Amino acid sequence: MELVGSVIVFLCVLISVNNASILEPTKANPLLSYYIPEARELKNALGLHEDVYLNFTELTSKYGYKSEEHTVTTEDGYILTIFRILSKCDGPSTSYPVLMMHGLIDSSDVYIVAGPDLGLGYVLSKNCYDVWAANHRGNVYSRRHVSLDPDKDIKFWDYSFDEHGNFDLPATIDYVLQVTNKQKLFYVGHSQGTTDFFVLTSLRPEYNDKIQLSVQLAPVAWMTNSMSPIPRALAYHVSQVKEFLDGMGLREILGKHQLSHFVLEILCSFQPEAVCGTTYRLTSGLEPGTLKPKVLSVSLGHLLAGTSTKNLVHFAQLIVSKKFKRFNEGLEGNMKRYQSSKPPEYNVSLISSPVVLVSAHQDWLSSLKDVETLSSKLPNLVENYVVPLKEWSHVNHVYDERIQKYVNPKILDYFKEYEV
Ligand SMILES: *[C@@H]1O[C@H](CO)[C@@H](O)[C@H](O)[C@H]1NC(C)=O
Ligand SMILES: *[C@@H]1O[C@H](CO)[C@@H](O)[C@H](O)[C@H]1NC(C)=O
Repeated sequence: MELVGSVIVFLCVLISVNNASILEPTKANPLLSYYIPEARELKNALGLHEDVYLNFTELTSKYGYKSEEHTVTTEDGYILTIFRILSKCDGPSTSYPVLMMHGLIDSSDVYIVAGPDLGLGYVLSKNCYDVWAANHRGNVYSRRHVSLDPDKDIKFWDYSFDEHGNFDLPATIDYVLQVTNKQKLFYVGHSQGTTDFFVLTSLRPEYNDKIQLSVQLAPVAWMTNSMSPIPRALAYHVSQVKEFLDGMGLREILGKHQLSHFVLEILCSFQPEAVCGTTYRLTSGLEPGTLKPKVLSVSLGHLLAGTSTKNLVHFAQLIVSKKFKRFNEGLEGNMKRYQSSKPPEYNVSLISSPVVLVSAHQDWLSSLKDVETLSSKLPNLVENYVVPLKEWSHVNHVYDERIQKYVNPKILDYFKEYEV
């Protein structure tokens, strides 16, 4: 089963790369962009569950929650979408809003795809919280800029998680605090959403004063011991891979409108375990059989929300350098950007706000050893909680049915404790 899945996933990657190479980028238009139509009728006719393709506001209203769409512009001009789920409870509203940030090639949807009983966005709303689900630059909901065109301007894609932390998060946090008229908020990050947070609170430590408490699911900072076969293999060949992709004009990767998404979304609905399960297995260590077929299919409709190839290169640099450092632009670029020949490390000892880490035995991206490196340096660590199940992995934190026992109550308990 796993072998079949691997072959299918490999073929999909091949198909999308091949498809891309037919369309040679020209000098005038050095960025390759193509759009696969959303084709909801076709997906419907093929029998896909509609939750696979409904967007954030459609899903929340389907399940009886009121949501709003907000936009904020970063200081460097990116226009980001933030969704708000209004609190749905009879009790008094809580003291702090909750801001949730998704992971790599993901979107705000990650906190609701598990459905109304499990999705953290819904669970928090039911518990009287004012819930905000962010989207960083370049993903399906935040593919906009005041002057740059993501389909034409290479510069639009010149960012990594450093810019998510340095620009997207502060703009988003300030916006939420301003609209809600509060001084502080609770933060929840998953995967890269934790990296973004560590970047922000170490590069701009004054933002720690705006965080009442953060809960970091599958934290990613040091990646020395990550053992996912695909990311590791790519990391050690990153310059060749990047050169190849640049040559084809691909600066945006795994976008929602791209062929890779369309193919995986459909295949995953027919063979959830073989296609999605294997994809998660090879990238982050998911234990086969731990997720229900429906959530696997639905998740792939929302994952692959797009990012820049430069962002993937930055993660590769973490793996190879064994350090949590800013982007390595090369000697000349580093001198210009950092006034030093090497990129500086993120100084996580400046993260003075209280942090809860939630990690997993079977997480191949965020290994327990690397989480320990991080936790030993955090000055205000509240708890390093390891989910007490041997088979728990990176995406179980957001998709597994058992989050109602092992993850969501943990978050609610800590928020209650830090409410005053
Ligand atoms: C979500 O779908 C609704 C209904 O089709 C549409 O009006 C809305 O613009 C979509 N939202 C986003 C952010 O794409
Ligand atoms: C990191 O921050 C701590 C606390 O302010 C400081 O003592 C230390 O010198 C900093 N380290 C670096 C490498 O800048």
